[in-house]
Amino acid sequence: MFISFEGIDGSGKSTQLVLLRDVLEQSGSTVMTIREPGATLLSESIREILLSTKQTITPTAELLLFSAARTQLVEKVIEPALEQGTVILCDRYVDSTTAYQGFGRMLDMESVKSCNRIATRGVMPSVTFFIDVAFEQAQQRMQFDTAAGEPDRMERAGREFFERVREGYLAIAKDDPARMVVIDGARDRAAIHDDILRALRDRTSLPL
Ligand code: ADP
Ligand code: TYD
Repeated sequence: MFISFEGIDGSGKSTQLVLLRDVLEQSGSTVMTIREPGATLLSESIREILLSTKQTITPTAELLLFSAARTQLVEKVIEPALEQGTVILCDRYVDSTTAYQGFGRMLDMESVKSCNRIATRGVMPSVTFFIDVAFEQAQQRMQFDTAAGEPDRMERAGREFFERVREGYLAIAKDDPARMVVIDGARDRAAIHDDILRALRDRTSLPL
């Protein structure tokens, strides 16, 4: 079972991923948590390049780098783990590329879709949670996050960019309601967690 979490930076998706991991592990599932870009040596190296503020990266180079990091992760980690029956919880996946590079950077959507098809090798999550919060609220959450440090290259993109990204996620959810669950992320952690558990009970046979 493959489950991904999406949302703008600071929306609270990593927090929810950890809460879900704990419940799944307590109920006996074997769980693997991964983040994108990351989780393989190559993908973590690409992550460093992408998030560094030391250089500018063109939108197309950005699309290709995120896609390269993803396809390495899919082939080396996700496909083998799924074969073993592991529950994979992924902090971001291909919808991030559609939302950030497609809607945010406004790259040609057909090119984005082609890259996504190549990178994922057709591997898609069974369920994707989009934790929906407004830009201001996400910013506020990041300010209070003592572990966050300085804004990375992506986080410096500004309000209009993140508003396009959020609209992008809502458009993806509208297109694919069978997979993507929109969660009102403006509430407290426990209320969001309850919604996630309820959606998984409705949509999967996970022991929750
Ligand atoms: P993301 O992974 O989406 O960037 P995080 O889960 O790291 O977001 O959360 C960003 C910050 O907001 C963290 O300091 C976290 O503790 C806090 N946070 C997460 N969920 C909530 C919530 N529902 N209400 C208030 N603060 C939250
Ligand atoms: P990260 O620190 O993981 O962000 P967060 O904790 O908010 O999830 O950084 C990943 C950044 O990369 C984030 O700004 C979203 C962006 N991103 C894309 O633009 N495209 C992608 O395909 C992926 C996976 C991430």
